[in-house]
Amino acid sequence: MARKQHVRPAVARYRPARFNDLMSEFPAPQADPPERGHRWFAAFYALQSRMAERRIAPWRRELLAGLRGDVVEIGAGTGANFAHYPPEARVVALEPDPHMLQRARSALDALGVSNIELRQGPAEQLPFADASFDAAVSTLVLCTVRDLPRSLAEIRRVLRPGGELRYLEHIRGDGMLGRTQDLIKPVWKWCSAGCEPNRRTEQALRDAGFTIASIEHRKLEPFLPAIVGVAKLAP
Ligand SMILES: C[S@@+](CC[C@H](N)C(=O)[O-])C[C@H]1O[C@@H](n2cnc3c(N)ncnc32)[C@H](O)[C@@H]1O
Repeated sequence: MARKQHVRPAVARYRPARFNDLMSEFPAPQADPPERGHRWFAAFYALQSRMAERRIAPWRRELLAGLRGDVVEIGAGTGANFAHYPPEARVVALEPDPHMLQRARSALDALGVSNIELRQGPAEQLPFADASFDAAVSTLVLCTVRDLPRSLAEIRRVLRPGGELRYLEHIRGDGMLGRTQDLIKPVWKWCSAGCEPNRRTEQALRDAGFTIASIEHRKLEPFLPAIVGVAKLAP
């Protein structure tokens, strides 16, 4: 009697290593330094933010509420957080991409506040002395920095003892969602100026020496889980 053939679903048969090899043939946006920038992604991000911010702006307001003292923001993008900083916070916002930086500068000029300073620079090399800040802010950036451990080590270096990192980041999901994110990573990354959909950011924060003081699991999009909260350094 012929043995019944077991047909595995396409996703299970898939070999991501080969797919990743194939995708590495595409021109990788991250081959360039982040300071070179992505003009089209900056324009697209600004456009899609108009819709997305209706939902995310209250998350930003909540995340940044109560900040005071010296604050560094990494990857400020188009400046979507600027309107939500309390006046008690003295903020230095960094952004490596000149096209994003230009948009952030316009946002800052339109706000007309004096407690936010904008500079160009990547998270992997923060141009500040050790222990210069009380808090750091990262929203939708740890998915894109080239070197996540190094960026977190830099944030840790510039924070004072007891300092905190306020984060809003999309992350790798569990189960089939996570496996799908692994699979589509090369295409996603290519289309999104280096963003990876599947980073294990909570674990990376712990590995970098932060304690998770608060964490909330939310959905940035139905297929894109996110974490929002505060990670702290020991006093
Ligand atoms: C998805 S956007 C998020 C922008 C903004 N933080 C927000 O919440 O809307 C990701 C940002 O990270 C920036 N970025 C890319 N590589 C970076 C790096 N190595 N260090 C810091 N920021 C980086 C990008 O230029 C972009 O502005």
